[in-house]
Amino acid sequence: MILINQHIKKLKPSATLAINQKVNALRCKGENVFHFGFGQSPFPIHESIVDALKANANNNHYLPTIGLEMLRQTIAEFLLKHQNITADSNYIYIGPGSKELLYQTILILDCTFLIPKGSWVSYGPQIKSKNGKYIILETSLDNNFKLTTDTLKAYCEANPNQQKALILNSPNNPTGAVYTNEELERLAIVCRANDIIVLSDEIYSQINFTEDFSPSISKFYPEKTIVFGGLSKVFSAGGYRLGFMALPKDLHFLHNTYRSIFSETFSAVSSPIQYAAIKAFKMEDDIKNYIKDCSIILKGISNYIATKLKGVSIECTEPQGAFYMMIGFNKFKNEINSLGIITSEELSNHILEKFNVALLPVSDFYFPENELFFRLAFVDFDGQKVMRAYNSRPFISEDFLQKYCPNIYGGINKVIEFVKKLS
Ligand SMILES: Cc1ncc(COP(=O)(O)O)c(C=O)c1O
Repeated sequence: MILINQHIKKLKPSATLAINQKVNALRCKGENVFHFGFGQSPFPIHESIVDALKANANNNHYLPTIGLEMLRQTIAEFLLKHQNITADSNYIYIGPGSKELLYQTILILDCTFLIPKGSWVSYGPQIKSKNGKYIILETSLDNNFKLTTDTLKAYCEANPNQQKALILNSPNNPTGAVYTNEELERLAIVCRANDIIVLSDEIYSQINFTEDFSPSISKFYPEKTIVFGGLSKVFSAGGYRLGFMALPKDLHFLHNTYRSIFSETFSAVSSPIQYAAIKAFKMEDDIKNYIKDCSIILKGISNYIATKLKGVSIECTEPQGAFYMMIGFNKFKNEINSLGIITSEELSNHILEKFNVALLPVSDFYFPENELFFRLAFVDFDGQKVMRAYNSRPFISEDFLQKYCPNIYGGINKVIEFVKKLS
């Protein structure tokens, strides 16, 4: 018999992967699927970043474990100028995606992790894989499923004498919500009073629908907030696999621990990618404007979807960044239950089978399985084509969507058809 780690054995494939497999199988059969399940930037990488990668393709050297010094300095400047975060470049670390850096941090910290209901799918499984403990903190649709100070305070009062780490993600996957400065300032007070370490996942920071970047809790709680970011979302380069983290003052003592675990695991991130990342994080005006245009297009699409869906009593979060929103069918619960469908996973299968629309059930996002909410990622379109059309006619109308984002337009009509058929 081969013995394996039971905590890892218990992990199940994420719903994101499962839904992608189903969508691919349907597409292979020639079916047109409206894919709201997969969250990858639809836009091409800015040409200047690709050129920097090409120019460095010959670089075959291992780089320092924690990353190229010039890149870490560039990220420190980027954080200051484009995210209003002060970080010491000596304590900025480069990894193969922010996901890996989050995981290594979770391995290092012996804490109870606090996850607001409506958070990214991978935090929980990462914690489970090391037999760690996490608690789901309640949130509600009234304020876009954002964590409130009252909830955090109540948990801390009921559970003193426990080292806690809060995982906060803004702009948020799956809700699209962005925490305001005031909300973060209030949360910071509770975190400081309870000595909480914050893992601030800011991977979508500059995909903000109204501002250049999103507020960060590190502004109000710099001493114990670890900031995570990377190339994947803002620079549309998920496949480049480069993320960073900035370690705050009170955790600088972990420097050698991070260095050791990096050197014993991934060694260092690919050298050509690190050089290309310098170009990205310099954030010259052409790249900055490009990201702005991507954000405006995403805002136009999300506004259209929310207006259409709310018009037929489907609940929606109000996205202010990233490329997701959550939608809910709780107003149709009785009709849906009478079809023999109880859980969000069953309903997502039904909607995929009968209407060819892929939505992710929220059971993966720390919701009870019978809450009929879904994550809708609004990126099923050809970003290059849309960007070109937007540049010559910068207005996202219904006609524009019908012409350039046919899967968004068609998929939303299918969702509306589903609820209309219920009543
Ligand atoms: C909220 C959030 N955090 C982190 C990541 C990981 O990003 P990466 O590992 O590509 O940097 C993702 C990717 O989907 C995400 O949505």
